[in-house]
Amino acid sequence: MRIIAIANQKGGCGKTTTAVNLSACLAQLKKNVLLIDLDPQGHATLGLNVKPQELNKTMYNVLTPNAENKARLDEIIMPISDNLDLAPANIMLSAIEQELSGKPEREAKLMQAISLMATNKTYDYVIIDCSPSLGLLTFNGLRVSGELIAPVDTGFYSLHGISRLLETVNLIEKQLNCKIQVKALVTMFDCRTNFSREVKEEICKYFSGKVYETLIHNNVKLKEASSYGLPVVSYNKRCRGSEDYTMLAKEVVAQVKAKKGTTKEVEARDTSQEKIENTPVQPNEQESPAKKSAVFTFYGAEAQKVEIAGDFNNWVSSTQGQMENIENGVWARVVHLDPGKYQYKFVVDGKWIIDPKNPKIERDLSGNINSLIEIE
Ligand SMILES: Nc1ncnc2c1ncn2[C@@H]1O[C@H](COP(=O)(O)OP(=O)(O)OP(=O)(O)O)[C@@H](O)[C@H]1O
Ligand SMILES: [Mg+2]
Repeated sequence: MRIIAIANQKGGCGKTTTAVNLSACLAQLKKNVLLIDLDPQGHATLGLNVKPQELNKTMYNVLTPNAENKARLDEIIMPISDNLDLAPANIMLSAIEQELSGKPEREAKLMQAISLMATNKTYDYVIIDCSPSLGLLTFNGLRVSGELIAPVDTGFYSLHGISRLLETVNLIEKQLNCKIQVKALVTMFDCRTNFSREVKEEICKYFSGKVYETLIHNNVKLKEASSYGLPVVSYNKRCRGSEDYTMLAKEVVAQVKAKKGTTKEVEARDTSQEKIENTPVQPNEQESPAKKSAVFTFYGAEAQKVEIAGDFNNWVSSTQGQMENIENGVWARVVHLDPGKYQYKFVVDGKWIIDPKNPKIERDLSGNINSLIEIE
């Protein structure tokens, strides 16, 4: 059994979409899959057409310490389709953090629940949809998982805060003396923009290449499918979203399973898995890259053309300074810079201006005022 958490505390980066569609595509590949909804928002539950508000028993009952409400994981599992089961959640789950506070082993409740699952069905994959926070619930999800898929969208601030997720993973690894195999998944990729490509390169660098080859493109069918409570492969088999998630499922299946110990095995009724030592895989073992990436942004809804010129491109905006209108008048460009100080200006429809959002300015040798960026 491979247990894979889908986590990233950035909201709306595609965790639930990935959890639901990866699960459905793995099921289509004839793998037995259990999708655990570990988010009080209950979006994975809704995404499989189960009404969270109508449920009597959910993941809350599995994780609660209150004996009268307690249920085993297998008691709440709902069959969804051939090979795909769901452990649903609803808003009740938000009470768990408080109920478990101060309780011993509170971070291991999900692990215990999976271990104690009495079922005649053995799952090939358990996929855990985590909430956009790094609280106790996500900690429980990560702690039981041998693998973590971190969906990272290719929009603004996509890598913002990701270091905290990786720190949490490191903490768990140290506590348990095991390794969690971390891999990023690029989501909402828009192949028409250079910005998406630049951010994708950033993600690859940040995760030292531990990024799925499969790209999840922006595809409106994914949104539509979830609004109908269907995995995209059941909604529209031929769309890009179906192709992408089918490819991802194949990549996940093919992933170096043979690499000894990279996947944590959890046997039913066996809680000794905490001792299993896995092959060291440093999730964030990146060499410190010489260059840092600076994202320059400019808001100009009316502008036709925005460029950036500065010390880093010899003040020639036309060669390497074109900025891209990525959405609603937001212009952006990623520039890779060595540590140091750089003066720059935007060129908006031919007019040179300082960066209105950057209070740091400096005069050049001719006395002109420029914006200043410092890379540490
Ligand atoms: N590849 C995609 N193309 C287009 N829309 C997408 C794509 N992936 C996700 N979406 C849409 O973006 C929104 C956010 O996606 P999703 O719910 O999967 O994110 P999340 O990370 O689970 O959010 P949260 O942090 O709230 O749990 C949803 O409306 C979803 O339908
Ligand atoms: Mg979600």
